[in-house]
Amino acid sequence: MKREFIKLAKAAQKAKLNAYSPFSKFRVGAALLTEDGTIYTGCNIENSSFGLTICAERVAIFNAISSGASKFTAIAVVSDNYGFTPPCGACRQVLSDLAGNIDFVMMDSKERFKTLKLTTLLPFAFSGKNLKRSLKLKK
Ligand code: THU
Repeated sequence: MKREFIKLAKAAQKAKLNAYSPFSKFRVGAALLTEDGTIYTGCNIENSSFGLTICAERVAIFNAISSGASKFTAIAVVSDNYGFTPPCGACRQVLSDLAGNIDFVMMDSKERFKTLKLTTLLPFAFSGKNLKRSLKLKK
């Protein structure tokens, strides 16, 4: 396992401690690595209107982008579950759009790792390219 992924997972573990999850009681932490080695973290933040809850992965990438970062290489995710925590569909789409084909690093409670490329998690993804129109639309 790459040393940088271990460091990233440790940052995700630390971020998990800030999770606001009174409804699910399920804490998630994420840490996103930029090309220049900077780490941006996030945790899940729930809401009494459940649909407004945001996952740790999206908090991490919105944190990074709002801080001016743009080029990413990997994201690590840890949770309260003993096994690996894969990203939800919404996070796959957001990461695919904003971070591209990064490594998605999962660490379980025994500190074992599973790493998948984002294109494996979200093959044939929708992207900005699909918004290019080929037909002239009527007014
Ligand atoms: N959650 C994440 O933060 N990331 C994931 O990859 C899966 C789910 C959060 C959302 C919610 O606060 C809780 O976990 C239960 O779904």
